[in-house]
Amino acid sequence: MDSPLDAAYWQERYAAGRTGWDAGAITPPLREYFSQLELPANSRILIPGAGRAYEAEALHGQGYKNIFVADLAPAALAALHQRVPGFPAEHLLLADFFALPAQPPYDLIVEQTFFCALDPALRPAYAQKCAELLRPGGTLMGLLFDTDFGPSSEPPFGGTREEYRAYFAPYFNFHHFETAYNSLPPRQGRELFICLKKK
Ligand SMILES: C[S@@+](CC[C@H](N)C(=O)[O-])C[C@H]1O[C@@H](n2cnc3c(N)ncnc32)[C@H](O)[C@@H]1O
Repeated sequence: MDSPLDAAYWQERYAAGRTGWDAGAITPPLREYFSQLELPANSRILIPGAGRAYEAEALHGQGYKNIFVADLAPAALAALHQRVPGFPAEHLLLADFFALPAQPPYDLIVEQTFFCALDPALRPAYAQKCAELLRPGGTLMGLLFDTDFGPSSEPPFGGTREEYRAYFAPYFNFHHFETAYNSLPPRQGRELFICLKKK
């Protein structure tokens, strides 16, 4: 990898407006999943690599009280704070996902274009860290690109469902792991909707 995908890299991308991943709103698969969510209002929810965190805004609007967003880039957290001033400031974690404390555990982790933004060498560690952060029976849900973006030193990095399955299988039972039917048009047919339960 030419450039380290560190905090400075991500902060620079926000500063330069190179945020092509940002859909500007919650994406349909997550919106639909959240509309059926039946977790208690005090459930602990983590959105890692949250960016501008439209998912956090949606869940906050639904009355969830313990949503945490983690990101390396101050600009990402600032964007949520600006849009949703009532979102608790202490739930904005300027932190490396891999260094987040595992206690108390989370009930739900939401994935949206974070996995594909990581150096692919970190994928096994991502699966392991998600498992470490969740309570037994806790859920990792969201979207993973099931597509080849071609060679690049910059994210997004693609992959296949077979590859991903191997990372998650040691820690999770698979409830959903199939092509999303309601992706945004440019992502149609290229995303997996996943809902995995920690063993
Ligand atoms: C491609 S963006 C996706 C943002 C958001 N999930 C979305 O869909 O709009 C990846 C995000 O992950 C953050 N990030 C990258 N590595 C991280 C890490 N190790 N820990 C926490 N956040 C990280 C970046 O700052 C960036 O905001």
